[in-house]
Amino acid sequence: MSNLEKILNNKTSCKSVWFMRQAGRYLPEFRKIRSKNEDFIKLCLNSELSSKITLQPIKRFDLDSAIIFSDILIVPYALGQTVKFFKKKGPKLNQFNYKYFLDTNENEFLRKLKPIYKAIKLTRKKLDKKKSLISFVGAPWTLLIYMLDLKKNNSKLNTKKFKSLENLDKIMDKLILFLCLHIKNQSKAGANVVQIFDSWAGLIPDKLKKNYCFIPNKKIVDFCKKHKIPTICFPKGIKKKYKDFNKFVKPNCLNLDSSINPIWAKKNLKNVVIQGGLDPKILLRSNEEILKRAMKYIQTFRDIPYIFNLGHGLLPQTDPDKVNKLIKFYRSYNG
Ligand code: CP3
Repeated sequence: MSNLEKILNNKTSCKSVWFMRQAGRYLPEFRKIRSKNEDFIKLCLNSELSSKITLQPIKRFDLDSAIIFSDILIVPYALGQTVKFFKKKGPKLNQFNYKYFLDTNENEFLRKLKPIYKAIKLTRKKLDKKKSLISFVGAPWTLLIYMLDLKKNNSKLNTKKFKSLENLDKIMDKLILFLCLHIKNQSKAGANVVQIFDSWAGLIPDKLKKNYCFIPNKKIVDFCKKHKIPTICFPKGIKKKYKDFNKFVKPNCLNLDSSINPIWAKKNLKNVVIQGGLDPKILLRSNEEILKRAMKYIQTFRDIPYIFNLGHGLLPQTDPDKVNKLIKFYRSYNG
């Protein structure tokens, strides 16, 4: 069992570190592969390359978990939408077709995602047994932001469009079912843990947070509990509602975003393992500043189960050498 799983199962308090987006653009060896593979979704579905990219940060750094190289938008792709990535605008999906969405059956969905399960199998074989392989999905709300194009260019919710939506609850229900299926199959292929990314949870109007964030996350977490799959939830941007989220959803672990004060988190988030929090922008500063800010998290959580990670993904401009120094600092710190 890896340190990550020991902590998630409350077996012991030990050190564990991995970073969101650790397999990505800040690594020259990733950029080299990416430059030869223009279609990003196709790259995610190339099992050999996906496995190779997953292991790139493990080769470089003293991390104890790998996260499978894929994307949250692979699920909308498998449900019939085309997904394209534009350099500055981010991902764009083609017009959502409700009928096509409802018509997609499980066999078709799983056939499209088979290469991901193969990549997990390949990676699990190559990865040290003492390290975890993390799988992931996007939470339903965050996926709907992309599937239904609900975000304006300034990263605010397009309220007019959101209010005019029909069948939202039905779409949500089908998504939850298929996300659970994807989680189960990633676990069957050898993934040890799942992280559920609700990156845009902060855009949900407060009155609707329960309906579109808490309840869907809870349904997925309950499914995982039934299948004994440890869960890490990341309801980014919901501020003090992290506390209500924790009480309602009860995941094994909660990833803090950078706006959450670690001291507040320690006081208010009980019966849950805490992960992350450190602002990825800090990694663009001097070594001194990085270690000072990292220390705040390490110190605050030194006597409770804590997984060292960030408050969002590593930025493409990050110097890999700084990532290495940060990991070494965490490993050697005995305060
Ligand atoms: O290293 C890892 O964490 C594993 C792989 C991974 C990727 N995306 C690869 C990727 C994971 C876990 C994700 C999650 C993801 N994808 C999220 C949730 C986490 C978060 O960052 O909020 C979201 C919202 C997406 C959707 C997405 N995919 C966006 C908005 C973009 C474009 C801009 C960006 O953030 O990178 C992507 C593309 C993407 N996904 C890249 C990578 C390595 C960059 C592809 C490229 O242009 O080369």
